Amino acid sequence: MAVTPIWPAGSNVNEQGEITFHGRTAESLLNEFGSPLYVIDTDDVRVRATKFVKSAANAFNNTVTHVSFAGKALLSKEICRIVTESGMLIDTCTMGEMRIALAAGVPGRRLVLHGNNKSDAEIELAITEGFAKIVVDEPNEPARIAEIAKRLGKRARVMLRVTSGIHAGGHEFVSTAHEDQKFGVALLPVGADASKLNVLDDLTDVTPAGSNARLGESETTPGESAERQLQYDIKYPYDMSHEKVSEGDRKLAEAMTMVADGPALAVLKEIYRHQDVLELVGVHSHIGSNIHDADAFIQAAKRMMLLRKTFYATDAYTLPEVDLGGGYSVAYTDGEDSMDLDTELARLASAVTTVNRALGMPAPVISFEPGRWTVAPTGVTLYRVGTVKPVQLAGTAKDKAGNPVTERVYVSVDGGMSDNIRPALYGSDYTAKIANREGSSETKLCRVVGMHCESGDIIVNEVRLPADIQRGDVLAVPVTGAYGRTMASNYNQALIPAVVAVSEQDAHVMIRRQTVEDLLDWDVSE
Ligand SMILES: Cc1ncc(COP(=O)(O)O)c(C=O)c1O
Repeated sequence: MAVTPIWPAGSNVNEQGEITFHGRTAESLLNEFGSPLYVIDTDDVRVRATKFVKSAANAFNNTVTHVSFAGKALLSKEICRIVTESGMLIDTCTMGEMRIALAAGVPGRRLVLHGNNKSDAEIELAITEGFAKIVVDEPNEPARIAEIAKRLGKRARVMLRVTSGIHAGGHEFVSTAHEDQKFGVALLPVGADASKLNVLDDLTDVTPAGSNARLGESETTPGESAERQLQYDIKYPYDMSHEKVSEGDRKLAEAMTMVADGPALAVLKEIYRHQDVLELVGVHSHIGSNIHDADAFIQAAKRMMLLRKTFYATDAYTLPEVDLGGGYSVAYTDGEDSMDLDTELARLASAVTTVNRALGMPAPVISFEPGRWTVAPTGVTLYRVGTVKPVQLAGTAKDKAGNPVTERVYVSVDGGMSDNIRPALYGSDYTAKIANREGSSETKLCRVVGMHCESGDIIVNEVRLPADIQRGDVLAVPVTGAYGRTMASNYNQALIPAVVAVSEQDAHVMIRRQTVEDLLDWDVSE
């Protein structure tokens, strides 16, 4: 049983109070592989990846689901093999990520390429390898991809990343679907009245008028919105004399007309224009990260279904796939909320089914890109404790519960913001435990800090640790499997720690530790 639910499934505490991973003590791992150390429970990665794939398939039981592991969370050849063997595709965004996945033997048809500024070389490699999707991020990209595909004599499978206008995820830097940021193409025209999309919350049942709506278009000059006229292939069959559409259908038509005038639909048309070399796979929406429930996903999904409906109404093309991106949350500290996957995916599936039924559209393939959910709880960073410094505080200091604090113990470890930038970048919360012994039952309020030249070099802002914590102890910080190693840096010329895979079978190095020789090798001028 895990140390607590936020720790890897293969972790435990033995009779001596030491933390173990599949029976190996934290101390023995540090002795064998060095400190600091990223430990990944690869059995747990396999279990979680399989769980997400199965949960998605179960929830969306009336359609096909695709799940891509967001490689930005943690990438190595071994991780690529584990997640693809578990049924996932892999989402990449740089040449480095693409090359690692390909080197692992993952075929292009199981790879996705994202990026707001893809290089020609990246696009070329994705087309040559037959990537499952290249996700278009800006209006000029379809022409660029088309030209490269033509030159290579191949057809590229592309999707459009759409900013739905739904905000989600804690920190501004991880919310990605509002307009004023760098990703994607907006669903709605500038200044559009987004409240017209509220009609999506009232759609309950398909009406003949709704399902057969077509949007006509008059000649326009570029940049002007078209004069559109709602048309129907059939009238209400229930009342042949009825010439008017219902209030609900009229509101839906208004929403569709607004979407039809938006930048996203224009780019879909542009992709479609290049259909000799571009296969339009669908639309993509990523709304943010560490999201606890399905509410915002439901809102974004409904908007994607409306865009799909509108494209059908204007161009008679049914987009085969809607990718809802990543962002499924995990708990970083004990007691914190995390997404209940089965419950929330079931809610999402039900909303998607309802909206498509009401729109008279067939279910698309639904895709997901969970990074953090798949790997964050499978990872623990182990550090060696160095300086332990109690700092006396003035009367105004408080802990996070609001209690007055007179002393805080600064526990310095041999890593820091170079191996986990998330607390400094996003203010993320973590917890920590002594891993090499039980420690005294008396605890002290501690702040775990790194060894870098920044006072913001904090790993755990506030945690109660045994009062007898001392130099040489092993400190374990759980839930570091995602965005630890992949966001690591050489700040202060720190050496990026090794990643060690621990499973029932063995413990081995997955990504080797950097050495001072690496630093000197990169430094080539004399
Ligand atoms: C397009 C896209 N997909 C998936 C992810 C993965 O997000 P998470 O690790 O929160 O699931 C991200 C994260 O930035 C992303 O930008």
